Amino acid sequence: MSLDLHPARNDEAGRIWPMAKRARLFGSLAEFEAFRTEAPWRLQVSSSGECAVLDRWREHLAIVAMRGAWCAADRIPALVDRLMHVVRDQQMTSLLSPLVAEEVAPAYRAAGMHPLEDIVVLRRVSRQTPVAPAALPPGVRIRPPLPADLAALLEVDAACFNDFWRYDIDKLARHFVEDRLMVAEEDGAAIGYTLATVIGDSATLGRLAVAPGARGRGVGAALLAEALGYLERTGAATVSLCTQRENVVSRALYARAGLRELPGKLQFLIRDVSGE
Ligand SMILES: CC(C)(COP(=O)(O)OP(=O)(O)OC[C@H]1O[C@@H](n2cnc3c(N)ncnc32)[C@H](O)[C@@H]1OP(=O)(O)O)[C@@H](O)C(=O)NCCC(=O)NCCS
Repeated sequence: MSLDLHPARNDEAGRIWPMAKRARLFGSLAEFEAFRTEAPWRLQVSSSGECAVLDRWREHLAIVAMRGAWCAADRIPALVDRLMHVVRDQQMTSLLSPLVAEEVAPAYRAAGMHPLEDIVVLRRVSRQTPVAPAALPPGVRIRPPLPADLAALLEVDAACFNDFWRYDIDKLARHFVEDRLMVAEEDGAAIGYTLATVIGDSATLGRLAVAPGARGRGVGAALLAEALGYLERTGAATVSLCTQRENVVSRALYARAGLRELPGKLQFLIRDVSGE
């Protein structure tokens, strides 16, 4: 059975908010409302109650990401079919699934999406193990960011992550303002950074990056320890983060810092307009 979709009206948005809040998609109701007002197409609902929160994944990629979807598994193909119209209307090329568990992925595959990347989730329960301190190499310090760091960190980020993952300037600038960002500096230059977010009593480490030329000297371990120490001081009960399954260097680094990999596999899936 097909499904109709339209941008959420006020009353419909009010019904989405508790679910979006539970999924920690937004820090506050004001943020959720600003998100909707700025671009109403990003909140789609059907008359039968299915809904999706969408967003552009990165400014340099024509991908619409499903940040959240509330829909029975057998209705996902119909939802995705309709969302492909939204993708086309926005002159984008692809639709990205939410990060879904292995058990849920078949419903997205049935919707014509194909797996893009396998992700591992790691979690640390703050009170179980104290954060082990990690020494910085001589000449390197960790400090809060300055506005002038934005360009340098954008370069570090692009050197550390591929096109799918790297931040565009708007996204990184938003993290400067909204999240807790710390910079590793050497000889006056930014060589790495971390990004951390706390919502309620759970925290997320959104980024750990060290410029390729500065790796292998303990900067990554020190940045990680500093961020975990900060998050513990905020009272966050758990710290979670995601990394690519194939990223063995970071997985080993996280394991040494007391982060444990959660069982199961998470996946992003994607469907392209060009394959239609
Ligand atoms: C992961 C990352 C932050 C580590 O930074 P770093 O400054 O090299 O980290 P450290 O020097 O503290 O090294 C951490 C460990 O990884 C090892 N390591 C570092 N680079 C490595 C490499 N290229 N190959 C194998 N091992 C490596 C180090 O030997 C060290 O292990 P040890 O403690 O047993 O000696 C960095 O490689 C990076 O920015 N990668 C790209 C972005 C990324 O993957 N971020 C994390 C996932 S979101």
